[in-house]
This record gives sequence, C-alpha cells and structure tokens, in this order.
Amino acid sequence: MKRWFISSLLLLTAIFAAIGVAQTLRGPIQPLHFSHKQHAGTLSLDCKMCHVNPDPGELMTYPATATCMNCHSAIKTDSPHIQELAKAAAEDRSIQWVRVYEIPGFVYFSHRTHVATGATCQGCHGQVQTRERVFVDGDITMSGCMNCHVENSASIDCNFCHDQL
Ligand code: HEC
Ligand code: HEC
Ligand code: HEC
Ligand code: HEC
Ligand code: HEC
Repeated sequence: MKRWFISSLLLLTAIFAAIGVAQTLRGPIQPLHFSHKQHAGTLSLDCKMCHVNPDPGELMTYPATATCMNCHSAIKTDSPHIQELAKAAAEDRSIQWVRVYEIPGFVYFSHRTHVATGATCQGCHGQVQTRERVFVDGDITMSGCMNCHVENSASIDCNFCHDQL
C-alpha cells in the first residue's frame, strides 16, 4: 500500500514536471488570447502591421491596443477575449505581453540592421505564422549569432556585440 502510494506520487510529480517543461518549451501563456496562426497565417496580415520598428531601430515592439481595436471595434465583439481587449483599450491600458525572446543587456542587437541585410523574421523566430502561441524556436544564443556572422562574413570580434569585453 505504502509503496503503491509513493510510486503514484512519483508518477504524478513526473507528469507535472513534464507539463512544466512542455509549457516553457511551447512558450509562456499570454495575458490575453492571441493567435499568430489566425492573424499572420489565415488572415495573412503583414508582421510589420503590428511589429513596427521605431528609431533607433533596435526593437520590433508589441502592438498598441489601438492597433488591435482598428479591427476589433467591429470584429468579433461578442467574444469574451475581445471584450477583455476592448476594456483595456477603453481604460487606455496596454496589454502586458510576456516576453518570449530575450538576450542579456550586455549584448547589442538591432533589428533594423539585420532586416536590412535581408534576414527574415522566420530565420530567427521560426514559422511564427503557423503558431497558436509563440515559443523560442529560433537560435538567438551566442553561437546562433556567430554561425550566421561567419556564413555572411560579418565580424565575430567580441567587441562587435559586447562593449566591455
Ligand atoms: C486587420 C484586422 C485585425 C487586427 C489588426 C487584429 N485582429 Fe484579431 N481577428 C481579426 C479577425 C478577422 C479575426 C477572426 C474573426 C472570426 O473568427 O470571425 C480575429 C480574431 C481574433 C481573436 C479570436 C476571437 C474569438 O474569440 O474567436 C482574438 C482573441 C483576437 N483576434 C485578438 C486580437 C488582438 C489582441 C489583436 C492586436 C494584437 C488583434 N486581434 C488584431 C482581425 C484582426
Ligand atoms: C495582429 C497583430 C500581429 C501580427 C500581424 C503579428 N504579430 Fe507577432 N505578436 C503580436 C502580439 C500581440 C504579440 C505578443 C503576444 C504573443 O507572444 O503571442 C506578438 C509576439 C511576437 C513575437 C514574440 C516576441 C517576444 O516576446 O519575444 C514574435 C517573435 C513575433 N510576434 C513575430 C511575428 C512575425 C514574424 C509576424 C509575421 C509573420 C507577426 N509576429 C505578426 C501581434 C502580431
Ligand atoms: C537576426 C535575428 C533576428 C531577426 C532577423 C529578427 N529578430 Fe526579432 N528578435 C531577435 C532577438 C535576438 C530578440 C531579443 C532582443 C532583446 O532581447 O533585446 C528579438 C526580439 C523580438 C521581439 C520582442 C520585442 C523586441 O523588440 O525586442 C519581437 C516582437 C520580434 N523580435 C519580432 C521580429 C519580427 C516581426 C521580425 C521580422 C521583421 C524579427 N523579429 C526579425 C532576433 C531577430
Ligand atoms: C541571419 C544571419 C544573422 C544572425 C542570425 C545574426 N546576425 Fe548580426 N549581422 C549579420 C550580418 C550579415 C551583419 C552585417 C551587417 C553589415 O555589415 O551592415 C550583422 C551585423 C551585426 C552587428 C553590427 C551592426 C549593428 O547592428 O550595429 C551586430 C552588433 C550584430 N550583428 C549582432 C548580432 C547578434 C547579437 C546576434 C544574435 C542575437 C546576431 N547579430 C545574429 C547577420 C546575422
Ligand atoms: C555576433 C554577436 C556576438 C559576438 C561576436 C560575441 N558574442 Fe558573446 N554573447 C552574444 C549573445 C547573444 C550572448 C547571450 C546569449 C548567450 O548567452 O548565448 C552572449 C553571451 C556572452 C557571455 C555570457 C555567457 C553566459 O553564459 O552568460 C560571454 C562571457 C560572452 N558572450 C563572451 C564573448 C567573447 C569572449 C566573445 C569574443 C570571442 C564574444 N562573446 C563574441 C553574442 C555575441
């Protein structure tokens, strides 16, 4: 009886651990439902419609609630998700999207210079337009950066990406 209890406890722990791992691998749960598959896939919306690249060009940024409301003040207003969105917009609140891709502050990276060399969003972020939820799929580790720099004869000097090293 006791052994049975312990082994089922172990099994349960293993299941919860597996779910936890799957969740981090599959990306964080966002504060509001949003599907890239629906918007960038089915509706074929341009990434840049929502991810603008303001000066000086380092960030792609998250869309303002108003960008969503351009459509959703009229589309799917009966959906509870859209009602949540509309409430945030009415209160002039932005949605606190949970970050998926992140590099440490001591690394310099600019979206604008990379997109200008012809690098695609999918090259670094995977097939986002097929995903219900965004998860880390592209390689943004130091070796990921280095590999592409070597292939494209871009510099791999430490100071190219790190100021103080
Ligand atoms: C260019 C227009 C457009 C923009 C901009 C847009 N959407 Fe949508 N969205 C749609 C359409 C069309 C649907 C599909 C409606 C349907 O299923 O009939 C949809 C569906 C949805 C749904 C699913 C609703 C449900 O319950 O089925 C959610 C949630 C949603 N959008 C959130 C957002 C958020 C958040 C933003 C901003 C980040 C956004 N949308 C920006 C057009 C847009
Ligand atoms: C209708 C608006 C909309 C469109 C179009 C859109 N996105 Fe997004 N994107 C969002 C929102 C909202 C988030 C934050 C929630 C999330 O992660 O799903 C986001 C998050 C992301 C992230 C994760 C950012 C992070 O936190 O690290 C990536 C990468 C991304 N989008 C890439 C793309 C690409 C590539 C396309 C075009 C194929 C695209 N997006 C089209 C609204 C949009
Ligand atoms: C050369 C690789 C690369 C390319 C190409 C690239 N990204 Fe990124 N992206 C990154 C890295 C690295 C981060 C994390 C940056 C950080 O933590 O400062 C990131 C972060 C993001 C974020 C989170 C918010 C932000 O601005 O940091 C969004 C949204 C995003 N990318 C969307 C896109 C879209 C849309 C495209 C295509 C137009 C794109 N990315 C092209 C590497 C890339
Ligand atoms: C898709 C290939 C590719 C990937 C992936 C990539 N780079 Fe680059 N990167 C380039 C190319 C090509 C250049 C040269 C651009 C030029 O000469 O104008 C460059 C230039 C740069 C520059 C100098 C230009 C500027 O923006 O000031 C920095 C810094 C940089 N990369 C950092 C990074 C970091 C950090 C990563 C990983 C998070 C990364 N790169 C990933 C291709 C890539
Ligand atoms: C093309 C851009 C690029 C170049 C060139 C580069 N790094 Fe990095 N480095 C990164 C990125 C991105 C990270 C953070 C992601 C990671 O830890 O993999 C990082 C992280 C690091 C870290 C922290 C590792 C950790 O575990 O936290 C050290 C130390 C480092 N780099 C040293 C170097 C040295 C030494 C060189 C020169 C031989 C160098 N880097 C060249 C992009 C670069």
